[in-house]
Amino acid sequence: MMRNIVAGNWKSNKSINEARNWMSEMGEAMDNLPKNVRIMVAVPAPYLAALAKEKHPRILIASQQVSATGYGAFTGEFTADMLVSCGVDYALVGHSERRSNFGESDEIVSDKLKQCLESDLGIVLCCGEHLNERDADRQEEVIKSQLESALHGVTADDMKNIIVAYEPIWAIGTGRTATADQAAEMHTFIRRWISEKFDLHTAENTSVLYGGSCKPSNAKELFASKDVDGGLIGGASLNSGDFQSLICSFT
Ligand code: PGA
Repeated sequence: MMRNIVAGNWKSNKSINEARNWMSEMGEAMDNLPKNVRIMVAVPAPYLAALAKEKHPRILIASQQVSATGYGAFTGEFTADMLVSCGVDYALVGHSERRSNFGESDEIVSDKLKQCLESDLGIVLCCGEHLNERDADRQEEVIKSQLESALHGVTADDMKNIIVAYEPIWAIGTGRTATADQAAEMHTFIRRWISEKFDLHTAENTSVLYGGSCKPSNAKELFASKDVDGGLIGGASLNSGDFQSLICSFT
């Protein structure tokens, strides 16, 4: 399994036409992009089915959202099963913007993750500490508790479908990036935790991405550490040229 991944997260941005232009620019550039990295993009939900059909086969399509329930009377929700049936490969789960702005508790995150596993939908599990927690040097304790809760009852075999994204909340959309040392330290911590919970083989095969103001100018340095397998990229994924530069950081 190739651990390197560059994943874009458009959040609530782009019209369908802009989304299609981005996809065709990526398709045209594809032959020149390094082969040792998987490419993913999390697009707004209304575009998922169309883009999943039209995208270049190398691009993995992710949903930014997924329901914590199965089918039923849950107006406005969409299930992991529905996403799979539309050709979606992954869902982001536990993104800090969902946790902070839309009341997603650890329990909901865990329910969403279970729904994805049952439907065989890949998961990008996001975790990260707030600035006050970092200032109090509590980042490891916070990440450990988020991972313990989200991955409770998950097996080593399930981990094949799970990518972890470490996204310090103080670095998301703020322009303030974690230093390469801070990122490396946390990624090593996360991989060690996975190894203790499951086993070394699982830890070595799980991708752990960095997120938080990752951009072409700092990606090479961040991705250089052995435990940083790529990035979950918000702002800098909107422009396909920047996104291509991020992918090229692996060359
Ligand atoms: P950012 O967002 O790259 O704009 O900081 C990252 C994320 O929220 O996934």
